Amino acid sequence: GPGKTVVIQETPEELAAYAAEYYLECASSGIRERGRFSAAFSGGKTPVGFFNALAQNDNKTWLAKSRLFQVDERMVSADCADSNQRLIMESLVQPAGFPQNRFYPVPVHLEDAAKAAKAYQTRLHDVLCPAPPKANNLDFVLLGVGSDGHTASLFPEEVDDYPKDAWVHAARSDRHPHDRITLAMPFILAAEKILFLISGASKAEIVRNILCDQAPEAPASMVWKKARRAVMALDQSASGAYLDSI
Ligand code: 6PG
Repeated sequence: GPGKTVVIQETPEELAAYAAEYYLECASSGIRERGRFSAAFSGGKTPVGFFNALAQNDNKTWLAKSRLFQVDERMVSADCADSNQRLIMESLVQPAGFPQNRFYPVPVHLEDAAKAAKAYQTRLHDVLCPAPPKANNLDFVLLGVGSDGHTASLFPEEVDDYPKDAWVHAARSDRHPHDRITLAMPFILAAEKILFLISGASKAEIVRNILCDQAPEAPASMVWKKARRAVMALDQSASGAYLDSI
């Protein structure tokens, strides 16, 4: 539909480089037009190449006037190997020299995922809405897709039960480790731009199902269909089944 673009790059390295260029373009024009840029990044494995490419890029304009949030987090301490906050710190914030006081991690030190979600929502609100009529949505959201159709920590078995007016909420799935904190689907959908970054043959089937509208109950499909402006960036192995089907 309108506002949706599928981009296919040959290798995971080219995919990461493309994503970094796209992000830099969005950030530069956002800062030029609105004087600031607010992005939320997913964790997991796929974004690592993107984080590295961004950290190494000679274009440093995005470092100023940017704010960085998390799309989702696991309820683990920030020094745990499964922590998305740790990943973003180590592969992006530190190597890029991004100002640490403008990276807002989920407060995983709180008692449980529900409390962490509530506190993160307040934090997002305070940072994004200092005073009306300033924008209160994110400029950019980086998402991944799980082979079960989840995106962020929005899992297929839970998606109908989420609170309708939250920006952030707790989540969990028996198929995935750890209690989660995730941006809510309506808040993700309010973002100016959404980039799905998907790599590898294990994602080929879900990619085909999303693009051919054969997994309507998958949260990733819902976000893809309802987004105003979204790019799905794939490497060749993630795009194979889709290309075979058209
Ligand atoms: C996470 C995520 C999650 C991820 C997908 C894909 O914290 O795990 O944010 O939604 O994007 O599970 O993960 P991979 O990139 O590791 O395949």
